[in-house]
Amino acid sequence: MNVVFLGPPGAGKGTQAETICREKGMEHVSTGNELREAVQAGTAVGLKAKEYMEKGLLVPDDVVVDIVADCMTKGDHNSSFLLDGFPRNLAQAKALDGTLKKLEYKLDNVFYFAVSEETAVKRLTGRWTCPSCGGNYHELYMQPKRPGVCDKCDKPIEQRSDDNVETVKKRLKVYREQTADLIEYYKERGVLNTVDADKGVDDMHDEITAVLETAAGS
Ligand code: AP5
Repeated sequence: MNVVFLGPPGAGKGTQAETICREKGMEHVSTGNELREAVQAGTAVGLKAKEYMEKGLLVPDDVVVDIVADCMTKGDHNSSFLLDGFPRNLAQAKALDGTLKKLEYKLDNVFYFAVSEETAVKRLTGRWTCPSCGGNYHELYMQPKRPGVCDKCDKPIEQRSDDNVETVKKRLKVYREQTADLIEYYKERGVLNTVDADKGVDDMHDEITAVLETAAGS
């Protein structure tokens, strides 16, 4: 089963993707995580991506399309993929259609995370992550057991450089202008499910899991 998580920054895509992939044995393909790793490693892709990410802009399509195609090609034919934060515009959606066709895969479900901008801003400006293991925290909603320290690996946690108010507003604007049209694209293809992403983490998880289990049983 192959799935896309679509929605604005701060909707909770990464949080849900981590749990669902662990529970269902799916491969988590997060273009954001892949790009941050490239930035940290100082690769040519990372150097190119950094200037866009810091401004809250989309990284050029050819870069992210290649990342996703590589991840999907490396998986074996029984793999299930959860694409988190890809595609983000029509060109990427069409490129994904091409990759799926080439690999003879099908896109089973697209989950659109519907969240208010007020909630998204609160979640992003309060988010803390562990640069070492990727652990995900929030200063109000998901606090680590010890302030400033990752529960899983004991390393200091930090705020993402694009989670300041100004860049968050830019990212939300980019989402409205370039990504939101994909809701209609996938609705027309009969694969869209809307998740109420203003809800708590556990309620969202139950909503997504129910859809996946129905799809797996059908
Ligand atoms: P990316 O890393 O994908 O960021 P994003 O889409 O902006 O999404 P976020 O990770 O910010 O939000 P999320 O929905 O995953 O929320 P999360 O679960 O973490 O992309 C970063 C950048 O890379 C882009 O700006 C762009 O430059 C580039 N890029 C990436 N993909 C690209 C593409 N396809 N094309 C071009 N460029 C691309 O949750 C946020 C916080 O809220 C956390 O603290 C969490 O603990 C908390 N939280 C989560 N759910 C809940 C809940 N239900 N209740 C309360 N708190 C919650």
